[in-house]
Amino acid sequence: MKTQLLDGRQLGKALTDRIRQELELAGIKPGLAVVLVGDNEASKLYVGSKQKKAQELGMRSFLHRLPADISEDELLGEIEMLSGRDDVHGILVQLPLPSHMDPYRVQQHIPPAKDVDGLNPFNQGALVLGRPTLVPCTPLGILYLLSAYGIPLEGKHAVIVGRSAIVGKPMALLLLEMNASVSVCHSKTKDLGLHTIQADIVVAAVGRPGLIQKTQIKEGATVVDVGQNRLETGRLVGDADLDGLMGHAGFLTPIPGGVGPMTVALLMWNTLLAFLLQEKPKAVRLPMLEGIHERLFGHLNLPLVP
Ligand code: GUN
Repeated sequence: MKTQLLDGRQLGKALTDRIRQELELAGIKPGLAVVLVGDNEASKLYVGSKQKKAQELGMRSFLHRLPADISEDELLGEIEMLSGRDDVHGILVQLPLPSHMDPYRVQQHIPPAKDVDGLNPFNQGALVLGRPTLVPCTPLGILYLLSAYGIPLEGKHAVIVGRSAIVGKPMALLLLEMNASVSVCHSKTKDLGLHTIQADIVVAAVGRPGLIQKTQIKEGATVVDVGQNRLETGRLVGDADLDGLMGHAGFLTPIPGGVGPMTVALLMWNTLLAFLLQEKPKAVRLPMLEGIHERLFGHLNLPLVP
């Protein structure tokens, strides 16, 4: 069987090129503030690519680097300062945070309309209630990728492996919005393969290399690999045995160049959406941005709030 790779690099670029054109035409500069606490090397790389992309699109991009031993209250103070700024439309606090901080409390402090990570309890609750607005970028990017490649979701069986607030849970909820039947498995699931073998779509987001093998996947199924595991050799691998799945899966996300670029692209979308959410109530007329949902997402039928 021929396996088609889902090219997130190309699709993410196509989407961000469209966003750049929309921003240019409308003459606006949404602002994205990224807060990085500590020196986690992987986080520094991720934050760098988010900032670079925002700048490429003509957005305002602010990086706030804070030492790892800063107190939680000091971090909350920084978030409050950013929340009050009119030129900052999106706030993202890079995860993981140092262990003395409670990510829930931190996310709670980001105003829902500036929460471009979709991790504030209000935005997570809106997603549970079927009104997705600002939702986490990775699952949104995966949905965009699946839809753009015409992979049917309605009535299909999706198995999500992983139950994080940033990927697994919102992925399950978004796929439910698309009328898929969804199972959620995780690191404590017994006989994982008994679940995944039945799936039309598997989304692996646990962070364990080699977790998903060919024998656990139905021939022709779609496998989306969210894992980002750095081996001792320095090689970056996902949670699935991608080499083994070539010629067996129907569709597969490569690493690199699959889910990662889609996450960054949808962060740019969320920043633009946050701008719209904040400027519209101020009765700012943005005629060039009227119908932007339709232009960017109309062909995909995604569950996004206009
Ligand atoms: N760490 C890894 N991925 C992400 C992400 O999408 N958002 C944040 N805030 N932290 C992350």
